Amino acid sequence: MQIKDLISILDLSVADIEEIFATARRCKEKQKKGEEYTPLKGKSLAMIFAKSSTRTRVSFEVGMLQLGGHALFMSTQDMQLKRGETIHDTAKTLSRYVDGIMMRTYSHKDVLEMAEHATIPVINGLTDLSHPCQALTDIFTIIEKKGNPAGLKIVYLGDGDNVANSLALIAGKLGLHMVLCIPPGYEPDKGIIKEAQGLADHSGAKLELTNDPQAAASDADILYTDVWTSMGKEQEREERLKIFKPYQLNGRLLAKAKPDCMVMHCLPAHRGEEITDEVMASQQNISFDQAENRLHVQKAILTLLLGK
Ligand code: CP
Ligand code: NVA
Repeated sequence: MQIKDLISILDLSVADIEEIFATARRCKEKQKKGEEYTPLKGKSLAMIFAKSSTRTRVSFEVGMLQLGGHALFMSTQDMQLKRGETIHDTAKTLSRYVDGIMMRTYSHKDVLEMAEHATIPVINGLTDLSHPCQALTDIFTIIEKKGNPAGLKIVYLGDGDNVANSLALIAGKLGLHMVLCIPPGYEPDKGIIKEAQGLADHSGAKLELTNDPQAAASDADILYTDVWTSMGKEQEREERLKIFKPYQLNGRLLAKAKPDCMVMHCLPAHRGEEITDEVMASQQNISFDQAENRLHVQKAILTLLLGK
């Protein structure tokens, strides 16, 4: 893989994505066998968080440890960034100490700025606009469970948020059939949809945007949802609860899908909101396998970017 940073799915070619998946499969196999694999011996990753995290923080930290390296958790609350040091100077300084930066923040521009000024790889650990490590893991998980994803009806229900944006882009890149079922006014970023559609024109992907959950769920192979109120949107919560109600992933909606339909969620889930307890408890829910795969896919990304 020739790229320095992983900021967006758009940074990756189809061959890069295939390389990430093949490396992730190898990392997973080795870990399951208890085989040591330490290509990042002596390397360090700075993990900068301006927002909360469970999965991203733990999977990157444990991933670095398993690869022979080390990760540092840095909350922006405790960094000089909070007291006015620029992203530019932070990038230059960290580049003198560590071998890579993973960053979770609000504005997507912040991650781009960090990547521009850092001489080391920068990985996007979620911004308001995108969540590329999640989308890569999601498609990796679908392939693991169902084989070739082309031809599957993958339905995303709910908010047109960072996760939806990255899923639309990866579907466009890889030629997948993705239905985005989203209430009017909450559609994914217009620029992203244009990019995804442009990719689809080349790859043969079928991207559909609808606001009819019943029709969308009908014959679905995958039903995927995410929280209705993403981090940073908390003041809109009450309004969103009302607007998104018909988009809840519940037993009735799941019954419309194919009998072997799998349920996905990037987690954290807000049970009783976008997904019911019943669906979370069902055999069809693979969201914890999905969460596990963040570890294996990110180990692949770290190996490919930091292991050069
Ligand atoms: N899915 C995901 O990124 O989870 P965290 O917010 O817990 O990192
Ligand atoms: N869309 C969610 C994803 C959390 C992993 C958020 O941004 O809060």
